Amino acid sequence: MTWRATVLTLFPEMFPGPLGVSLAGKALASGLWELEARDIRDSATDRHRSVDDTPAGGGPGMVLRADVLAAAIDAADADQGRPHLLMSPRGRPLTQSQVAELAAGPGPLVICGRFEGVDQRVIEARNLQEVSIGDYVLSGGEIAAMALIDACVRLLPGVMGKQASGEDESFSEGLLEFPQYTRPQEFEGRPIPEILTSGDHAKVAAWRRAEAEALTRARRPDLWAARGGQKGTKSTTDG
Ligand code: ADE
Repeated sequence: MTWRATVLTLFPEMFPGPLGVSLAGKALASGLWELEARDIRDSATDRHRSVDDTPAGGGPGMVLRADVLAAAIDAADADQGRPHLLMSPRGRPLTQSQVAELAAGPGPLVICGRFEGVDQRVIEARNLQEVSIGDYVLSGGEIAAMALIDACVRLLPGVMGKQASGEDESFSEGLLEFPQYTRPQEFEGRPIPEILTSGDHAKVAAWRRAEAEALTRARRPDLWAARGGQKGTKSTTDG
């Protein structure tokens, strides 16, 4: 079965958007994955097709109704057994290992929040897993959903083609990526580090490893600590 992302949104016209171009877009066009964007408003039942209402207890903004969203989820949920994700800044932060898990499965149902939030009862009743893409607040879950889907799609079989299959890159080993260089040999007085043009593959690999470790230590002490640190690596002045 083809990997499929189903997105529930109040703005289906935002899709495929950036997922329709470049790597993900080519893969979409060639049938390596499927995208279904469904309008939550189609599940509204009243005359005004309303999807939101004022928060119980008062306060600013609007809350997405539990009954409308539940109906939208149920209507979209022909294939049972796939994860139900709710994009939300209060979710658990998305990680590369979670992305890999999602890419290995049938593909998620992704719900995009809007307004001040979603009625808590539908989160519980439909077992929605809240996912954040970072500690900042977007105006809605759509861009977050696109980021999550893009991260999954590039891991699907056949999508990356000749490019390294994601094993050599940032996070797969808990390290940030080492710096890259290409022609010209000299740019504004800065040469390519000599070791990279030496042809000594072992030395190149050791240099890259040391750079990746130094960068991770300096920029992401959280990642560095999570892998237990490592002795004998060089430090860097880069913040
Ligand atoms: N919706 C609004 N902000 C978000 C975030 N940081 N992550 C996921 N969904 C969001």
